[in-house]
Amino acid sequence: MYKIGRNDRCWCGSGKKYKSCHEKSDEANMAEFAAKGYPIPDRSLILEPGQIDGIRKSARVSVAIMDALEDFIKEGVTTNEIDALVSKMTAEAGAIPAPLNYCGFPKSCCTSINDVVCHGIPDDTRLKNGDIINVDVTTILDGYYSDMSRMYTIGDISDEAAKLIERTKEMMFAGIDVIKPYMPVAEIGNTIHDIADKYGYGVVRALCGHGVGLKFHSEPTVNHYRSKAKSMILVPGMVLTVEPMINAGTWDVEVLEDEWTVVTRDGSLSAQWEHTVVVTETGVEILTV
Ligand code: MF3
Ligand code: CO
Ligand code: CO
Repeated sequence: MYKIGRNDRCWCGSGKKYKSCHEKSDEANMAEFAAKGYPIPDRSLILEPGQIDGIRKSARVSVAIMDALEDFIKEGVTTNEIDALVSKMTAEAGAIPAPLNYCGFPKSCCTSINDVVCHGIPDDTRLKNGDIINVDVTTILDGYYSDMSRMYTIGDISDEAAKLIERTKEMMFAGIDVIKPYMPVAEIGNTIHDIADKYGYGVVRALCGHGVGLKFHSEPTVNHYRSKAKSMILVPGMVLTVEPMINAGTWDVEVLEDEWTVVTRDGSLSAQWEHTVVVTETGVEILTV
């Protein structure tokens, strides 16, 4: 099942050998899925409690930054000033902003305004009354990655924007709440897509959630849209993000000439929230709190 030696320490942190701890129950829980052709996670995707603690500490830095931005973000502030605050607080915590130089990304966080879906690059743009903005922060502390984003509002926003923001948050939490061990990861997207349909919103397909923790992006792929594909089975100790991007209009997006900024193709508003979570033996725990 897992590519873990039978004499290696069990993933659960008991300190016991795998063969005398979780090997049998893991096999029993996953045999049926494996037989049907669902991908089973590699041992490298199953983190031990000490590693999860490392991610939790990293997440504290990300959360502190997100909290500081609640007061900082207002009319007239530029996205470069947001980036500078993220950069400063990350450095003060002895951490590294993962986006900086990631595949050539030039800044420490992503700032995505109105019809920008994600990966907006901080610049001299000033926030104005009525704007909505997603700030996405990924912190590396002692080698452990935590990835999260929130929406912020500037002044008086439209009713349409306010509803999109609240409902996208509702979808993120619904996608998180459905997580339990020995479940195909596609259930997350199935849950989110059902709610989006109810509201008539578009679920972005081109970008997805992902495994995280020891790397910025790893398996499994976490789609936010409905899928019948045989997706990876989640097991305790897997760390991943749930980060639905929801458009007020259709799901379709395009990438601007800077090769990063993703916008809605129809120009409609887009919102996103992101948490890093760990699959537990009984369900799920949010780490970015
Ligand atoms: N933080 C984003 C995510 O949620 C990834 C940003 S990649 C960057 O996966 F290079 F744009 F920073
Ligand atoms: Co992410
Ligand atoms: Co992110």
